[in-house]
Amino acid sequence: MDDNLKQKKRIILLGVTGSIAAHRALDLIRLLKTENYDVKVVATENALHFLPKETAEVFSGNTVETSAYGLGPQVSHVEWAQEASAILIAPASADFIAKMALGLADDLLSTICLAASSRILFAPAMEERMYDHPATKTHLSILKSWNIREIPPEAGSLASGRSGVGRMAGIDSIFSALQEAVRQDTHEIKDLLGKTVLISAGPTYEPIDPVRFIGNRSSGKMGYALAESAIRRGANVTLISGPVALPPPHGANIVYAETAREMQEKLFHHFPSADILIMAAAISDYTTKNSFSQKKKKDGKDWLLHLEENPDILFSLAKARRPGQTIMGFAAETALVKKELQDKLLRKGVDLLAANNISETGSGFGSDNNTILLIDQDGLLSEEKSGAKKDLADWLINKILLHRTRALQNRND
Ligand SMILES: Cc1cc2nc3c(=O)[nH]c(=O)nc-3n(C[C@H](O)[C@H](O)[C@H](O)COP(=O)(O)O)c2cc1C
Repeated sequence: MDDNLKQKKRIILLGVTGSIAAHRALDLIRLLKTENYDVKVVATENALHFLPKETAEVFSGNTVETSAYGLGPQVSHVEWAQEASAILIAPASADFIAKMALGLADDLLSTICLAASSRILFAPAMEERMYDHPATKTHLSILKSWNIREIPPEAGSLASGRSGVGRMAGIDSIFSALQEAVRQDTHEIKDLLGKTVLISAGPTYEPIDPVRFIGNRSSGKMGYALAESAIRRGANVTLISGPVALPPPHGANIVYAETAREMQEKLFHHFPSADILIMAAAISDYTTKNSFSQKKKKDGKDWLLHLEENPDILFSLAKARRPGQTIMGFAAETALVKKELQDKLLRKGVDLLAANNISETGSGFGSDNNTILLIDQDGLLSEEKSGAKKDLADWLINKILLHRTRALQNRND
């Protein structure tokens, strides 16, 4: 273990839930103690059917807590949730995973998870059928989207005598995942602390009649990844989201908007207090001139829709900006021509333009990956990068911060 971590005597909050594998938490406690961690064990009531409480107390040197009540005025679940370097739930039962994904807080451990600012990791342990159930899979993907890290179970013989995937990961795998998380936590740079970031994401729907609309293929994944990255880096994030099928990022102030006009209204409302605006939404350029209040029935004739241009929201926001605000626009193009993009950036009056080629297979709308060409106002920056939207989000935020530093330097020169 490196000296830096040793000196700080990191606190690990070990959550134990009602799985047959709970007795293996004892091995974890011993390993963590050997590595000089201070281990606080919080068990659910059901975990105590499988975890010998007194042994866990002797091994950890702390009392094993199960209830939020009676902890006394000095210790609150909020403090427990904040002071740990990491929260590790091992084993995590199917029931407890569901509770976390639903945001339930009906015992000490689930309340701590909901109030946590520390990184949360969990090691599922259950029968293979439970692990493969669509409910569990949905809960796992929700937790993943909140950056709650799963240490996947292994294949092997299960408590039922059957074999399959569901055995809690090995103690060494859990321990190294935990160490990695603690190290990241130590090094995580909160370079957006105190900054307000306004992000738009997803498509807009322009109504034709009560059942039909004109939309686009934006999934919102890029904008949501940007929101998650900005939150991790300490920003206050307001996410104006079009209709998407994604769970809201944990910690974002989320505001939903359906049409381009609604999005415009919400963006203008939040823009004055923002330091950074990132316009990742695919806002419809056109809307219907008249929408029908009743469903239009078939009448054997062609149907001509009259469309009119929507206002240019990015342009008008850039026009309304105050000094110190940084704006990044997005452009979804079927071909990336640098000269055309540079003209677009100047026309819109934004600082940075991230263009993605939506005609490329495996990137753009709906995909988890993207290829972005990023250019800036003065033509100094022109960089293309491909990768997971999550990684691209971190990269884009780095570029925004660099741009802000340069702008500040230029103002002071
Ligand atoms: C003998 C026994 C073993 C169990 N093992 C598991 C298990 O390994 N994983 C699991 O998800 N549930 C298991 N369960 C079911 C959970 O204990 C039950 O869903 C419980 O409500 C979980 O409580 P919790 O939210 O405190 O984890 C087991 C139940 C019994 C009776």
